[in-house]
Amino acid sequence: MNFTHRVSIIGGGGNVGAAVAFALVVMQLPVEILLLGASEKSARAQALDIRDAAHFSTAHCRAGTSEEVGCSDIIVITAGARQRPGEPRSNLIDRNYVILDSIIKKIQPIKPTAIILMVTNPVDVLTSLAQKLSGLPKSQVIGSGTFLDSGRLRNYLSRKLNVNSNSIHASMLGEHGDTQFVGWSVASIAGSPLLKHPLMANVDLAEIENAIAHQAYEIIEAKGSTYFGVGYHVAALIKCILTDGHKIYPVCNYNAKYDTYLSVPAILGSDGATPINLNLSDEEEVKLERCAESVNHSLGQVNEFAVHVNEE
Ligand SMILES: NC(=O)c1ccc[n+]([C@@H]2O[C@H](COP(=O)([O-])OP(=O)(O)OC[C@H]3O[C@@H](n4cnc5c(N)ncnc54)[C@H](O)[C@@H]3O)[C@@H](O)[C@H]2O)c1
Ligand SMILES: *[C@@H]1O[C@H](CO)[C@@H](O)[C@H](O)[C@H]1NC(C)=O
Ligand SMILES: *[C@@H]1O[C@H](CO)[C@@H](O)[C@H](O)[C@H]1NC(C)=O
Repeated sequence: MNFTHRVSIIGGGGNVGAAVAFALVVMQLPVEILLLGASEKSARAQALDIRDAAHFSTAHCRAGTSEEVGCSDIIVITAGARQRPGEPRSNLIDRNYVILDSIIKKIQPIKPTAIILMVTNPVDVLTSLAQKLSGLPKSQVIGSGTFLDSGRLRNYLSRKLNVNSNSIHASMLGEHGDTQFVGWSVASIAGSPLLKHPLMANVDLAEIENAIAHQAYEIIEAKGSTYFGVGYHVAALIKCILTDGHKIYPVCNYNAKYDTYLSVPAILGSDGATPINLNLSDEEEVKLERCAESVNHSLGQVNEFAVHVNEE
């Protein structure tokens, strides 16, 4: 069978990578999905399990090799160390930087038209690093960013307003982390500002924002990690890229104004992310700048760490 596109998932032996692959299978895309893990065993086991479902689908799934990853149309990265109890987030950044560095080296040469789709946390920081390490054009390196958080927001508003979430335009912006915020000033429903909707009159906006930004914590506390939600969202990004869909999605992409990677809406197609102008309120613009500073701060920590590692 000839597949139109190849999508490789590095970290495919883990929960998020496997959930992305499973969602692609369910979406009936004509793709060949390759899974790679730290150990061949786990990626192969996930691929075999998913293959048991894929015979209903136009997608195919198998374990892949590093050489095959480099010539993929989309390279999804979900590989990463998990945070140990009590461990500071900066440690996670350092560990995942080392993993990312080794992955990018292993999959060279990367096809010049490939898109790298970063999912590993802290996703906005690692997307920036993936671009630097791979040398691909900035438009071709994207992170899932606040796409999942925005889905959670639209889902919440959908229940509140009794309108399908696809008909509500609202996004979480900035960073897939605690500093993210709702872009209320650019949120709309049926062409009108969302905040002018009568049912939005008495809602506590700060409470919504806080609940969405922390929704993952409740899931992680009870079942250890989140994967179905992010899996389907990442698969939707892949579908949009492969079909050159030109949908506007809030993803982590390079922001020229702040000269760093940030999660803001961009047009997504086969050539990657094309930024759009957002006319945020002054207050929101300050919040966005704060997110840019936060991403930059983490990048600075990694740079210090990388220098230290190279000197050892
Ligand atoms: N961006 C988002 O919205 C979002 C949402 C949920 C989870 N995540 C992140 O996704 C990542 C993966 O989460 P998970 O639950 O799947 O974790 P997991 O532990 O189940 O899977 C991670 C996988 O990475 C593999 N790995 C480690 N080093 C590797 C290497 N050098 N090469 C290849 N594979 C390697 C591990 O073997 C493991 O199978 C985490 O960083 C998590 O924080 C992001
Ligand atoms: C941006 O929004 C402000 C109000 O917040 C408005 O005055 C201005 O015209 C808008 N600019 C554009 C380019 O839409
Ligand atoms: C982020 O870092 C880049 C590169 O060092 C710099 O040009 C930019 O001004 C910084 N942005 C913010 C908001 O600090």
